[in-house]
Amino acid sequence: MVSYEYILGGFLASLLAFVFFMIISTTLGGNKKVKTLSGGAKSNGFQPEMEEDKSTDVVIVGAGVAGAALAYTLAKEGRRVHVIERDLTEPDRIVGELLQPGGYLKLIELGLEDCANESIDAQKVFGYALYKDGKDTKLSYPLEKYSADVAGRSFHNGRFIQRMREKAATLANVKLEQGSVTTLIEEKGIVKGVIYKNKAGEELRAYAPLTIVCDGCFSNLRKSLSAPKVTMGCQLWANQ
Ligand SMILES: Cc1cc2nc3c(=O)[nH]c(=O)nc-3n(C[C@H](O)[C@H](O)[C@H](O)COP(=O)(O)OP(=O)(O)OC[C@H]3O[C@@H](n4cnc5c(N)ncnc54)[C@H](O)[C@@H]3O)c2cc1C
Ligand SMILES: *[C@@H]1O[C@H](CO)[C@@H](O)[C@H](O)[C@H]1NC(C)=O
Repeated sequence: MVSYEYILGGFLASLLAFVFFMIISTTLGGNKKVKTLSGGAKSNGFQPEMEEDKSTDVVIVGAGVAGAALAYTLAKEGRRVHVIERDLTEPDRIVGELLQPGGYLKLIELGLEDCANESIDAQKVFGYALYKDGKDTKLSYPLEKYSADVAGRSFHNGRFIQRMREKAATLANVKLEQGSVTTLIEEKGIVKGVIYKNKAGEELRAYAPLTIVCDGCFSNLRKSLSAPKVTMGCQLWANQ
């Protein structure tokens, strides 16, 4: 199995915490969406207030492991979350098939552990087996102080991600939409929201006081936020 070789290669998966970066716009109530009122509102001296779009607290770009977990967690705390994901069909990539025990503990902490249960055919992982020159040895995770359920998990990443998306979408205050974000809306250096194309190809805007970009290692948006020294996000894996 491909990912197994990576594990033996150097325990690299433990380095791979959920990678995402945040864009935080700090101004409170700085999220003004202009709605033009028609008619004679101005003529009687009444200045229509810039109407604030208060329907969304957080826009999340991308519903991979980071975006989906974040959407669920923020919504459980009562925030209104709008998740925009380019492709809502089950991902079909050979990535992220091993969840370390620490990752499983995080799932428990977030109430998401059922997304990695038997029903997606997830297998418990208790450590590593090393084979060399006809000899072998085992390295077990030190799990003695945890309950029997706590172990690593190996699964089809796509099934796991799909479960997380579904679980997030069960919350009434999560709006999970298929769409491709093209641009961050910035005013005076503050991110106000995003421009995206929905499934029908319409160009739409979503505004929120906080926008979180979790669009993965092939991010198109990263370069508009920082000047990363890393030129290729998946270098670590490409070198395997
Ligand atoms: C070959 C390989 C093997 C790996 N094996 C493991 C492993 O065994 N264990 C492990 O823990 N990690 C592993 N990783 C790392 C793991 O896959 C990543 O850390 C993880 O997927 C990162 O999650 P993410 O949510 O940040 O990004 P992603 O999973 O890439 O999710 C990003 C999401 O954003 C969406 N998106 C992107 N751009 C836009 C846009 N403009 N608008 C809307 N949506 C957008 C994408 O469709 C995608 O759904 C592996 C990686 C590789 C490459
Ligand atoms: C696994 O979790 C799902 C919810 O994601 C639940 O419906 C199902 O009953 C669980 N299955 C087992 C075997 O625990």
